[in-house]
Amino acid sequence: MRRAITPAVSLRPKPNDKIGVKALSRTPISRDLFRRACSRFATGVAVATVLDPDGRPHGLTINSFTSVSADPPLVLICLDRSCSLLTHFSSSGFYALSFLSEDQQDLSNRFAALPEGRFQGVAWKPGPQSGMPILDGSIGYMECSTHQTIVAGDHTLFIGQVEAANAEPEARPLLYYASSYQKIR
Ligand SMILES: Cc1cc2nc3c(=O)[nH]c(=O)nc-3n(C[C@H](O)[C@H](O)[C@H](O)COP(=O)(O)O)c2cc1C
Repeated sequence: MRRAITPAVSLRPKPNDKIGVKALSRTPISRDLFRRACSRFATGVAVATVLDPDGRPHGLTINSFTSVSADPPLVLICLDRSCSLLTHFSSSGFYALSFLSEDQQDLSNRFAALPEGRFQGVAWKPGPQSGMPILDGSIGYMECSTHQTIVAGDHTLFIGQVEAANAEPEARPLLYYASSYQKIR
């Protein structure tokens, strides 16, 4: 006779779900553990840029870049909902991503920490498709039209359709791992 096996977790369907989901214990993990676990995922570093309605350039350092789809070509960045540039990203309809080289750590710090004048003295060019700012010296860039935005927790996800892109052949990326900058050795 087969004995019924009691699962360690119960499979309880959520309303609107077509499949059962594992109903795990709802004890929330601490913010610290969440951040430490995320920090074990190594990423590159990019500056996400946008123009305001007066044509002034703005940008912030991000590492939440993910490629989403090849056909159509879609990518994703996640912006903190407290980010001062959120309204510009929401209204612009376009944004650009400049992937930083290992020599551009100062730019990463600048675009993450400087409260104002981040573009002062920074060399950049308007992207050929959208006019969004592309930082000189970056190892690749993407110009994106905003395909979809999704509010998720304390961040807003900007899914962008890649309208133009460039990849430098000889590229040494700036890396971010365990809350510090790294280089490929
Ligand atoms: C390596 C690195 C990666 C970051 N990634 C993100 C990110 O993906 N999304 C985000 O909203 N902020 C990210 N930040 C923080 C922003 O760059 C920083 O909070 C910036 O000051 C936000 O712009 P604001 O001051 O104009 O609001 C990152 C910072 C660093 C140093």
